[in-house]
Amino acid sequence: MNTQVMALKDAFKRAFRIGASLNTEQVLGRDARGAAIVRQHYDSITPENLLKWSNVHSTPNGFEFSAADRYVDFGEENGMFIVGHTLVWHRDVPEWVFRAGNEPLGRDRVLAHMRHHISTVVGRYKGRIHGWDVVNEALNGDGTLRRSPWLNALGEDYVAHAFRFAHEADPSAELYYNDFALEPPKLDGAVALVRRLVAEGLPITAVGVQHHDKLHSPTIPEVEATIEAFAGLGLKVMITELDVNVLPPVPNQAGTARKPDPSLNPYVVGLPDDVGQALAKRYAELFATFLRYRDVVSRVTFWNVTDGDSWLNDWPVLGRTSHPLLFDRVGQPKAAFFAVLEQARAALG
Ligand code: XIL
Repeated sequence: MNTQVMALKDAFKRAFRIGASLNTEQVLGRDARGAAIVRQHYDSITPENLLKWSNVHSTPNGFEFSAADRYVDFGEENGMFIVGHTLVWHRDVPEWVFRAGNEPLGRDRVLAHMRHHISTVVGRYKGRIHGWDVVNEALNGDGTLRRSPWLNALGEDYVAHAFRFAHEADPSAELYYNDFALEPPKLDGAVALVRRLVAEGLPITAVGVQHHDKLHSPTIPEVEATIEAFAGLGLKVMITELDVNVLPPVPNQAGTARKPDPSLNPYVVGLPDDVGQALAKRYAELFATFLRYRDVVSRVTFWNVTDGDSWLNDWPVLGRTSHPLLFDRVGQPKAAFFAVLEQARAALG
């Protein structure tokens, strides 16, 4: 831990909360260095995987909450805003939710599974988990609803049902729709979806914009247009899964990661200075934008703590050495960290 630097959460106090997603090692105290960075710099946490359906509810009546309990304790011990991620997603849901053997379950059975899951998980942490990613990644790139098992079993109003069940289980929790790549035409689909929820009077607080970014995409005008689109519906915007991938892009990846490939893994021994500077510049322009919209943007959460923790070490190619965050593999702040701090100083004094 570097105690000489200003804490991010203090630098951004007058603008928005600043957070990170935690893995099980950090939550269970096996990664003391990572946990210390989280305590020092962040005032909000999101669980990377441990609250996903298959991790808490792998069999119909079997819930496994030990890691999740520790996660919530960690947030409370440190006075943090605690996020739940995620209730309804097309991934990480066990087969039994939708099928008995080869037979698809009827609509009522699947809906009952959804309600049971949401009421048990949200109910357990009522008043303690402050905001939930209720529905995650429901849209295709063209803005239509993804043909997920949820859509197939329940039809289009599965999204509304999820919000209703979550609100029923904890009326005081903030509820979010969360998705990635929210630029047109997907953005238009997201706006239409969220507008319908608002029109139906469903208790949606904010849209989570994941922001798994690259050095040059999305553009700043695209970032601004996305924030303005949801602000125009009267909602808050949260940047929920921020990272900036500097590794070579991989075209047309399907649902599975490519096998390791040295030609796609250029920075194994470290990030060259010019790329580190480009990353810092990119983070500076992103945070300058979030700060300009601080009336609307209420939280910025990084996806993972240090570069060594990043999911981008294994996605979309297995076994790469990724450098997408503010802290390097030994937990030291990078040029990007200081560029982000400087944006707070410039905007907030
Ligand atoms: C990722 C985790 O980081 C990985 O460890 C896991 O193997 C797959 O899921 N969008 C989301 C997150 O909403 O839940 C995903 O997290 C990253 C993309």
